[in-house]
Amino acid sequence: MRKNIVAGNWKMNNDLAETKELLGHLKMQLVKEPEAEVMVAPAFTNLYEAFQTLKSTPIQVIAQNMHQAKSGAFTGEVSAKMLKSIGINTVILGHSERRAHFHETNEILAEKVNAALENELRVIFCFGEELEDRKSENHFNLVEKQLKESLYQISEDNWKNIVLAYEPVWAIGTGETASPEQAQEMHAFIRNNIADAFNDDIAQNVSILYGGSVKPDNAAEIFAKEDVDGGLIGGASLKAVDFLEIVNSF
Ligand code: 13P
Repeated sequence: MRKNIVAGNWKMNNDLAETKELLGHLKMQLVKEPEAEVMVAPAFTNLYEAFQTLKSTPIQVIAQNMHQAKSGAFTGEVSAKMLKSIGINTVILGHSERRAHFHETNEILAEKVNAALENELRVIFCFGEELEDRKSENHFNLVEKQLKESLYQISEDNWKNIVLAYEPVWAIGTGETASPEQAQEMHAFIRNNIADAFNDDIAQNVSILYGGSVKPDNAAEIFAKEDVDGGLIGGASLKAVDFLEIVNSF
């Protein structure tokens, strides 16, 4: 059965002192047996500290990005092997901010997905349409293209290490959430698409998270939808009380 997951994407927020403070609050306030897998993604500089602090708790520490090459002359980049070496087992790939500001194409993301899986990292693969795509009713086509060009090259066996995160760009950081119905409609489309391209078993077992302005006051109604298995949380993951309220929304 697929798992419920709530992951906090801290983006480029929190220096070391702020990271320690937030981790301390999360550690103290998390219920012993949360209804979901809980993950936080601090910046690279704070990953080691976060992993060490949280290793005896149910909260997993994950990375926000990685480079597709094994090693080499890629100034400023971090490899899958480096992440693994400090205990990180999951990486977010394909976030719309990486696509928009750092020119990550579907082709580059296919390479990143392959590199992560080869290194036995679990991948939270993000995708989603811009507002213009939705207005022109091209959102289903666009999402299908993102999945086909970056993810559908993987083997059936590798799906156990994939989590999907549908994040409509127009809902990220805007306070405008997709309605629970819009989220459900897209998640059901994604699951059907995977069933067609692979098989129903894979489609039923992959967790599909929703991301985009999820807050404590809207999480429960979104997570209640049949094909929504949790959330990828930006702004609201920076406050322990808000994040944990979202974690407890199932
Ligand atoms: P917000 O929750 O701030 O809208 O961000 C969502 C997001 O981009 C998570 O990856």
